[in-house]
Amino acid sequence: MRAFLLGFVTFAGPQPVSADSADGGRGVINNFLQYLFIMSDTYKVLFVCLGNICRSPAAEEILRHMVQEQGLQQRIEVDSAGTYAGHRGELPDPRMRVAAARRGYELMHRARPVRREDFYEFDRIVVMDDTNYENMHRLAPSRDCAEKIFRMTEFCPHSERTYVPDPYYEGHEGFELVLDLLEEGCAGLLEEIRSQIRN
Ligand code: 4NP
Repeated sequence: MRAFLLGFVTFAGPQPVSADSADGGRGVINNFLQYLFIMSDTYKVLFVCLGNICRSPAAEEILRHMVQEQGLQQRIEVDSAGTYAGHRGELPDPRMRVAAARRGYELMHRARPVRREDFYEFDRIVVMDDTNYENMHRLAPSRDCAEKIFRMTEFCPHSERTYVPDPYYEGHEGFELVLDLLEEGCAGLLEEIRSQIRN
């Protein structure tokens, strides 16, 4: 829990890596590198979607906004990433930026792919849909790391949806629906995190 990296884990992009796989000893090295993480006071949340230009950067900013409103910015850190690296370095999709801005969220995240060390650095990894969930499980270096992965809709008690739909090929309504789900999910997630970090 609440770890940050002291050493630097070399990782050549988001490849499916299993702790059990024959990986030329890299699994052993990475297990050892886990011990280079030490306890810190911040709880770290990583949101993950496919491109890291629509859903996850919006979730990141919504949760950050709530964290700041509740004065928890010293206790909780937020970031986002994508399982697909094709939008690396880009700002969020303009349609999402406009829709989010209407609700008071300024999306300035630059897209980045998921890194192996994210599984160690973050306390909780929250994905948007089943494909993200499966991809992140394939990437997880160990079972402990895989246990950090949750679906966003697990924190949406008022919605029957089991995933946050990909709005990339949708119209205006798709982005509004995503933002509705993310606002509900972030509120639920923050409530749960607060109960964990209470003391
Ligand atoms: P996101 O949306 O996963 O919410 O960032 C998408 C962004 C880009 C693509 C698909 C979904 N794409 O196909 O490039």
